[in-house]
Amino acid sequence: MNILLTGGTGYIGSHVAVVLSEMSHRVVLYDNLSNSVRTVADRIGEIVGKSCEFVRGDIRDTDFLQKALREYEIDAVVHLAGLKAVGESVDKPIEYYSNNVQGTISLLEAMKAEDVKRLVFSSSATVYGQPQYLPIDESHPTSATNPYGRSKLHIEEMLGDLAISDPDWHVACLRYFNPVGAHETALLGENPSGKPNNLVPFIAQVASGTRAVLSVFGDDYDTSDGTGLRDYIHVMDLAEGHALALQFLVDNAGWHAINLGTGQAYSVLEMIKSFEHVSGRKIAFEVMPRRSGDVAACYADAEKARNLLGWTATRTLENMCSSTWHFQQTVDKYTAQCPKQPECDKARR
Ligand code: NAD
Ligand code: UFG
Repeated sequence: MNILLTGGTGYIGSHVAVVLSEMSHRVVLYDNLSNSVRTVADRIGEIVGKSCEFVRGDIRDTDFLQKALREYEIDAVVHLAGLKAVGESVDKPIEYYSNNVQGTISLLEAMKAEDVKRLVFSSSATVYGQPQYLPIDESHPTSATNPYGRSKLHIEEMLGDLAISDPDWHVACLRYFNPVGAHETALLGENPSGKPNNLVPFIAQVASGTRAVLSVFGDDYDTSDGTGLRDYIHVMDLAEGHALALQFLVDNAGWHAINLGTGQAYSVLEMIKSFEHVSGRKIAFEVMPRRSGDVAACYADAEKARNLLGWTATRTLENMCSSTWHFQQTVDKYTAQCPKQPECDKARR
């Protein structure tokens, strides 16, 4: 298949590109580089042993998208482009609705015009809001507590309406739980600009000495050790889920929401312990008050992915932490060699 991968040079997109290219799909990366760099395409090429096509463009540019769909004779789109920081979305809601919702409308218009009606969309467990029961299956009620989550929910609902309006659409909304880890070569991974919002990149930077101490947001939750429980999933398992979803859509029309999680939850303290084990470094942490908007526990019922896609996550917590640590060390080495650190950080993202 010829696949357009929006957000293709981003953290998750780059790993999806590797998996799809290794399955002999033709992958075209489409990204405006607002949170990634062009050299990621070269690194994907290095891993898969052939050059990876890249188009610099914004998903809100419908005409340009349409041209790309036509020029590369695209059969299906995997749509990951968007903004993803919960806190930032509260401060900048218009940017989030513009990039995520308006951007998706623009993509759908371009796809419709070119009669490309197969779409895998990167949704999130955030659409479940405050969990009402655990593990969370796809029938769990949806809600949103911030503009980021609401943008994902709006998109899912739009896609549902579209599939009802026209039976030719084949759409999968993949609801990711907590993606972590990096490619085994350490050529790809998550290297956030500025202070990381998420736990695992923060732990990695404390292990490497980039940051002094991790704040543990609350140890008084009703969980085994009082800290938050999450379903961490290796980014390569997640990427493989996209390939299987594309395959599923070949014969299955309509709108499908599917969890991608392991079903296994780990606490913040367990994540720290595992990272200490793989890195051999002590992770300094201090317990702080709960972070606003956090839930005590969130983990998936992943049966639907197993039944529909034949997908299950296979990589362990140790794989997640060791690949993150390997990638972090590579970033540190590169940064140390680079005389102009800010540009260097940017180049590695
Ligand atoms: P990322 O920021 O690394 O990748 C997103 C990519 O989209 C970036 O390369 C960015 O440059 C690009 N982009 C943003 N706006 C664009 C636009 N208007 N036009 C073209 N390109 C644009 O983020 P990621 O972690 O790889 O996330 C990918 C997707 O997965 C996002 O939609 C995110 O909401 C979703 N998701 C991520 C997580 C997570 O924890 N990382 C969890 C659930 C869902
Ligand atoms: N945590 C800390 N210290 C930190 C960062 C996080 O203790 O510095 C804790 C949180 O309180 C939480 C756990 O670590 O208990 C995980 O937090 P993350 O920020 O890594 O992940 P979240 O579960 O809050 O959210 C992530 C994405 C969301 C997405 C959600 C579900 O950031 O965008 O997973 O997919 F919606």
